[in-house]
Amino acid sequence: MTLSDKDKSYLWHPFTVMSDWCSDGYEPLVIDKGEGVYVFDKLGNRYIDGNSSIWTNLHGHNDPRINSAIKDQLNKISHVSFLGTTNEPAILLAEKLVNLFPEKSLSRVFYSDDGSTAVECAMKMVIQYFQLIDQSHRNKFIAFDNAYHGDTFGAASIGGIDKFFSRFSQLGLPTLSLASIEDLLAIDASQIAAVVIEPMVQGAAGIRLWPDGMLQEIRRWCDENGVLLILDEVMTGFGRTGKMFACEHEGVSPDLLCLAKGLSGGYLPLAVTMAKESIFEAFLGGEDTTFYYGHSYSGNPLGCAAALASLNIFENDRIIENLERKIEFLKIRLEKLKTKNSSISEIRQIGLISGIEISSELGIIGPQICHLGRKYGLLTRSIGNVIVFMPPLIITEDQIDDSLNAIDGAIHEYLDN
Ligand SMILES: Cc1ncc(COP(=O)(O)O)c(C=O)c1O
Repeated sequence: MTLSDKDKSYLWHPFTVMSDWCSDGYEPLVIDKGEGVYVFDKLGNRYIDGNSSIWTNLHGHNDPRINSAIKDQLNKISHVSFLGTTNEPAILLAEKLVNLFPEKSLSRVFYSDDGSTAVECAMKMVIQYFQLIDQSHRNKFIAFDNAYHGDTFGAASIGGIDKFFSRFSQLGLPTLSLASIEDLLAIDASQIAAVVIEPMVQGAAGIRLWPDGMLQEIRRWCDENGVLLILDEVMTGFGRTGKMFACEHEGVSPDLLCLAKGLSGGYLPLAVTMAKESIFEAFLGGEDTTFYYGHSYSGNPLGCAAALASLNIFENDRIIENLERKIEFLKIRLEKLKTKNSSISEIRQIGLISGIEISSELGIIGPQICHLGRKYGLLTRSIGNVIVFMPPLIITEDQIDDSLNAIDGAIHEYLDN
């Protein structure tokens, strides 16, 4: 049996129509290695990693500095329980993360494994926090239509994408799903525990940008109504929007912040929920107030070592400072792509996050175009008709050019045939 035959025989892939995947004509792409912005398949074909391996990779694949940080840690210990013991990389990473935020804002770091668990953890913290401060009637969440915060039950109950969540949403936590800031201003806040939002841009919704100033207005509403603000920067964190964190665009500080994906540079599963000291303090009343939440791999030293190396790269290579030019270049190139292709109905961009929307009049053809893009050397996925281009931060202008030429070639080939 070939590797793809074995894959089809034994595996069940995430978010994948398995009846299509396992069909006779389908040949899964088996990725073998990566180097910088490129990944290579088993046959040696090279592809630009156009969605940063599902929005995780920042500094490219096989970066020698992240590799050696992981290897050095591997030679010491790969995992030890974070229940009852602690470890150096986890401590140093927490210190570094806290220092990325203004003083007296986010001061505590709670480790978990991925974006969903970081959000789940924030939700549980909020529910327990209000119980501990004698406001247990505050037990509802506000989230937004088309939101994606992960797929565990709590995170799914604040998710707003029907295709993923409608089967499960009734089984999760009470949530009000709103369309806009106007809806929020009209809400009776008395039972609301927290507002949860992907700041500046909704990713899985199809790269949908929020109106300017909305985040500040939400912050103001939360403050006026005694409601906590959870920012889900699982996708937007670590430079993707052009700033280290998306909340910096509007100078907003959350009460809780969820980070994952790029936290380890995209090398290992690692997540954090960061909280303000005032929230943490409510849990300091001994056994009865303890936060009983955590996972076997919480504070994993390998993941934390990778994350520390990634943050060092941000400093040493002045990653954020160097983004501005690339972002401007991408903007110009996207406009050019749209001008050339009447099939593109809209382009949306913030930082190095972009969505290229194909006109719905042509049917749902995004997946086919992305599939054809492989032939032109680009690997990415679409969300419906929105082709997502969200490359690693190290991408060069020439590689941006190559990527958009690949999308252009794939659109033309698909529509001309
Ligand atoms: C904004 C946001 N939050 C949470 C998640 C869930 O992260 P994970 O897939 O690591 O559980 C995602 C995943 O795409 C996301 O985009």
